[in-house]
Amino acid sequence: MLLQLNKTPIILIGFMGTGKTTVGSYMRNQLKLSYMDLDQYIELKEHMTIPQIFDEQGETHFRDLEYKYLKDTLNKFDIISTGGGIIENQASLDLLKLQKNVIWLDCDIEIVFERIVNDPHRPNANNKSLNQLKNLYSSRISRYNEIAFMKVNSNQNVSDIYQEITTSLTSD
Ligand code: S3P
Repeated sequence: MLLQLNKTPIILIGFMGTGKTTVGSYMRNQLKLSYMDLDQYIELKEHMTIPQIFDEQGETHFRDLEYKYLKDTLNKFDIISTGGGIIENQASLDLLKLQKNVIWLDCDIEIVFERIVNDPHRPNANNKSLNQLKNLYSSRISRYNEIAFMKVNSNQNVSDIYQEITTSLTSD
């Protein structure tokens, strides 16, 4: 498939555990495009894990790093998956609003909960009940919606998600 990106990256957004990294890697393999997971990029550049950054420098500092490296990755990669909380930072939100191909992956919060409950690598999911996670999810939905070009139900297999995204991008 020939996808004309015209230097506009495909950016995957959505809550934790909605499959952004899985879909991003799958798209990279299928489309032979460059791909980066923003969390992974931050860890590589900062030589720290995400939980270490949260613990030692705090979430606000992590959000600043997210913004800094988002700017970086936008100019370097064709496909980027972002962390679920990127929309918590106004500067990141504003920057994402300017991007064309922002894809929102979304699925039932109960499914997300099963996937991420007590994940030690996710400080904002660790030790959270289903209700607490639901509240966090609800507080973020309008911002995902505000910046997304399309919303995809990610409670389906990855090849179907891929088909849905590429069909929409090529029928522009
Ligand atoms: C976060 C989501 C994580 C990561 C960090 C904070 C959040 O990314 O950026 O742990 O606040 O939702 P994933 O969405 O890839 O889990």
